[in-house]
Amino acid sequence: MAFDARGQRVLITGASSGIGAALAERLASQGAIVGICARREDRLGEVLERCRVHSPESRMWVCDLADPAAVDSLAVRALDELGGVDVLVNNAGIPRRKHVRELDAATVDAVMRINYSSPVQLTLAVLPQMLARGSGRIVNVSSVAATLSSPGEAAYDASKAALSVFSEAMALDLWDSGIKVLIVYPGVVDTELFTIPDNDPLQPGIDKIPVEELVDGVIAGLAADALEVYVPEWFKEVAARKAADVGGFLAGSAAWIRQHEEA
Ligand SMILES: NC(=O)c1ccc[n+]([C@@H]2O[C@H](COP(=O)([O-])OP(=O)(O)OC[C@H]3O[C@@H](n4cnc5c(N)ncnc54)[C@H](OP(=O)(O)O)[C@@H]3O)[C@@H](O)[C@H]2O)c1
Repeated sequence: MAFDARGQRVLITGASSGIGAALAERLASQGAIVGICARREDRLGEVLERCRVHSPESRMWVCDLADPAAVDSLAVRALDELGGVDVLVNNAGIPRRKHVRELDAATVDAVMRINYSSPVQLTLAVLPQMLARGSGRIVNVSSVAATLSSPGEAAYDASKAALSVFSEAMALDLWDSGIKVLIVYPGVVDTELFTIPDNDPLQPGIDKIPVEELVDGVIAGLAADALEVYVPEWFKEVAARKAADVGGFLAGSAAWIRQHEEA
């Protein structure tokens, strides 16, 4: 089932900046009709304007995914106004870089709500029409943090791991349904994610990739009908090394952190 963006109705969450915005613009330029959502109306409007240059039927909805009622109404409006959803991209996400000693339960719940519960809720809301059609794509933007247990991000890492495992189990349930699931594992991408207040700074010495490289990876994953895509690809090997020896990997991470703290 080769992926051709032309005429595809694509719902993308978190498209007011970063990966979501770049992916919306790329897919619109390839002929997809994109429906985009986020909270910042002005920024979303700018992205929509750029999408509409190529795809005039594209539209936007201002929506706070922290509110379960807003997620339901987003699904209803997208299905109605786009006439269906062929591709759902659950991209919206928040970091919460905090050492575990600074975390509280409410923060963990809030991260879980945006990064795990809302994409699952939206997926379940659009799934019936994909099942009825016997086709569709669900793209869930996870993170290498889900597989590497990155330091100072326990809440974020766990929320992304939950999204990944849900996606894998869903892919299995949907194996012969005609609906394909793609899990995206970005490394460190140059977006506004690292400027959001109330987050510890990123560990030093980490190179960020341009957002267009990540978008290339998503498009390649769709074209290949892949279940997962790591961008950059070498993170897949790092994840495999960690899975083979979790204790050894964490010991190495701890030594690396100490080295950078002392430098
Ligand atoms: N950048 C990286 O290095 C990296 C690495 C791994 C994974 N990721 C994942 O990639 C995805 C996109 O992140 P990004 O790097 O492109 O960062 P970004 O530029 O900060 O984009 C995040 C998007 O999510 C939206 N969003 C956040 N909270 C929302 C809410 N309550 N309701 C609706 N929309 C909300 C934001 O829009 P508003 O603020 O306008 O609502 C924004 O459009 C996230 O899931 C992130 O975890 C990023």
